[in-house]
Amino acid sequence: MLFRLMLFHNDNGWLECRAKGRITEMGDHKRSMSIRSIVLAAIVCAGVSFSVEILAAQSPAGGAAPKAAGRAPAVPAFQVHETLAQLMKGIFFPSANVIFAAQGTNPADVKPARDPSLATNPLESTYGNWEAVENASLALTEAANLLLLPGRKCSNGLNVPLQNADWPKFVQGLRDAGMAAYKAAQSKNQDNILMAADTMSTACSNCHDKYREKTNPADRCK
Ligand code: HEC
Repeated sequence: MLFRLMLFHNDNGWLECRAKGRITEMGDHKRSMSIRSIVLAAIVCAGVSFSVEILAAQSPAGGAAPKAAGRAPAVPAFQVHETLAQLMKGIFFPSANVIFAAQGTNPADVKPARDPSLATNPLESTYGNWEAVENASLALTEAANLLLLPGRKCSNGLNVPLQNADWPKFVQGLRDAGMAAYKAAQSKNQDNILMAADTMSTACSNCHDKYREKTNPADRCK
């Protein structure tokens, strides 16, 4: 009567434990003993494989964990399709205007467009009023990440100056201004929006002063 405990990886990559043994002719006494040892082997087996699974999951270097990590899908590459100026005109300019407009007109008073689902003014759209100011603020905050993508050119053909130490600082300034505007929009208070709009236009012009306002366009983005 011999039992062997075996640990192995099955097809799914899980550790399995099997007890292998052979019962030969035996008397009643021996049979009850061997049943007891089968049960014991099963319990030991379960315990061993359980603890081995835990070890494997905890250690990045071995066991089932790397197999699972190896199966993780690759992160798709980022793509860049427009110049910095086009990005500014497409996202930053229209979104900032929603915040700037909230200084003069209380967003709560803006009437919906005749067909709000087709409105080109976010304040008059299905997602209008203060919600439009919230969404524009968040759009500016998130779109700041696009200013850090490698491979983008400025309109004069130069690379966006990602390697300059002040570039990421200006980008962070834009994020902070975006989150300040978001808070102001959530408060539905126009005094708060006045301050947030000022912070926003400063964040835009901090970067423009250094990289955009040039008499010769060839000098932008240096
Ligand atoms: C991190 C730097 C940076 C920040 C922040 C920034 N811009 Fe710009 N922006 C530029 C640069 C550089 C250009 C010129 C790009 C080019 O020529 O391709 C530009 C161009 C523009 C343009 C196109 C007009 C032109 O002269 O080419 C607009 C509109 C604009 N920005 C609006 C904004 C607004 C609104 C904000 C703030 C919400 C903002 N930008 C924040 C760097 C920045």
